[in-house]
Amino acid sequence: MRHFCPAYPKPHPEKASKLRMFWHARRSWMDALFERSYTMQMGEVHLPGVDLYMLNDLKEVKRVMQSEAQHFPKSHLLHASLEPLLGESIFTTNGEQWQRQRTMMNPAFEQARLNVAFPRMLGAAQAMLERLDQLEAPQSYDIEVEMTHVTADIIFRTIFSQAMQGPDAHRIFAAFARYQSLAPKLMLPALFGTRWLVMPWHRWQSNKAAREIRGLLHSMIKPRYEAHLKGEGGAQEDILAAFMQAKDPQTGQPFSEEELVNQVAMLFLAGHETSASALTWSCYLLAKSPEIQQQAYEQVVEVFGNNTPQQSDMKSLSRVWNIFREALRLFPPVGFFARENTQTCPMRGKQLEAGSTVVVAPWLLQRHRKLWQNPDAFDPERFERGEDKDAIKHAYMPFSMGPRVCLGAAFALQEAVLILACILRRYELLPVDGHEPQPVGRLTIRSANGVRIGLRKRDAA
Ligand code: HEM
Repeated sequence: MRHFCPAYPKPHPEKASKLRMFWHARRSWMDALFERSYTMQMGEVHLPGVDLYMLNDLKEVKRVMQSEAQHFPKSHLLHASLEPLLGESIFTTNGEQWQRQRTMMNPAFEQARLNVAFPRMLGAAQAMLERLDQLEAPQSYDIEVEMTHVTADIIFRTIFSQAMQGPDAHRIFAAFARYQSLAPKLMLPALFGTRWLVMPWHRWQSNKAAREIRGLLHSMIKPRYEAHLKGEGGAQEDILAAFMQAKDPQTGQPFSEEELVNQVAMLFLAGHETSASALTWSCYLLAKSPEIQQQAYEQVVEVFGNNTPQQSDMKSLSRVWNIFREALRLFPPVGFFARENTQTCPMRGKQLEAGSTVVVAPWLLQRHRKLWQNPDAFDPERFERGEDKDAIKHAYMPFSMGPRVCLGAAFALQEAVLILACILRRYELLPVDGHEPQPVGRLTIRSANGVRIGLRKRDAA
């Protein structure tokens, strides 16, 4: 089978000067990459505000992310740019503060909670199909719009036990969209140590969106929190209930009201932006790979028949799992992780000064020319065959690795397989002539010009 190779920013033949690199990166950090970025073990850029090291050496990646992770906490530069929205949330904190939050939040993501989440995911997936059925021009539709909607709906239903509808929910959704579109304008200068380059207007708009989101989330959390304090909490089995029941392992104290807002805001962002990105690329890759799509469709029909999908069906959809895994390899939503080196240390024969930034990029590792066979091709069956076994084990990390590994990975996989299977059973996904999405690194890896596909309802649907 000939495998489709999706377009991505053409790497420059040579490393550019700092100024040119900065200029290339103004739209997306991926536009600054050059040929050797995909073959080298370690690269470096020294900017006035920060020393950056890009790491592809798997031994050193493991050291930074896993075995010595305590010496390489999350970069405070990125923390500062997300703080207005997320406050001191688990995504950005470090050390004991992070450990306490992680211990308190773990129970909300245990298997039992995933079982409770499944019918809510299914409800959101069915609402998605109803919206898609109503499309006026399904032959050329930007699938990112619906993938963002359905994943936001799922996280809303699992946090609050209610569907994302009504004016407040839509205000949160709209404010998040504004926040996301502004994020790269704030985050890249933050990472490069040039926050003074951020336009005050962009900062103001972003802070305004963050205040609005936090205010709306707070108004939803407050009545539940007050009822909980009075011992009048309902019987909801949602994420908010799990967070309110959580206790600090040392002091026995629960999360304060403000901490709840921080964690819920973070979860809303981390829980839908990433999944929406990966599902959007999955649909595009399927539209461009008819044979792979047909095989997956046949499996979905065999497993679901005409019945309502069950959670126990998910494990039988191996083709859909592999499709999603492969989409996460080619388009990892979190394209890079920024870590701060807390103490001067040797790395690959260099002396890394304390305070420098070490970047580990799944975008590069998962397309590294020396690690993968045919790295740019969409080939889901590589997860079944043996030739990429080592790369899958050591260089595949869309959910990160080590102690900061994604807390919602099992949740994300369950929702993604369900959504993709529901779409595949109902529609044939078709390419749109002349449309080629342009991947750009924003908050997650998205397309600069949308991701258009055609949707043709299947006869059996
Ligand atoms: C395909 C979907 C997803 C991908 C690719 C993804 C990826 C990631 C990655 C790479 C990180 C770590 C970043 C770093 O190390 O700097 C992370 C952290 C996190 N993710 Fe996800 N994520 C996804 C979906 C979700 C969902 C659905 C949830 C919640 C429902 C979630 C909750 C979290 C949380 C709470 C953290 C912070 C963990 C910590 O720092 O201890 N994610 N995610």
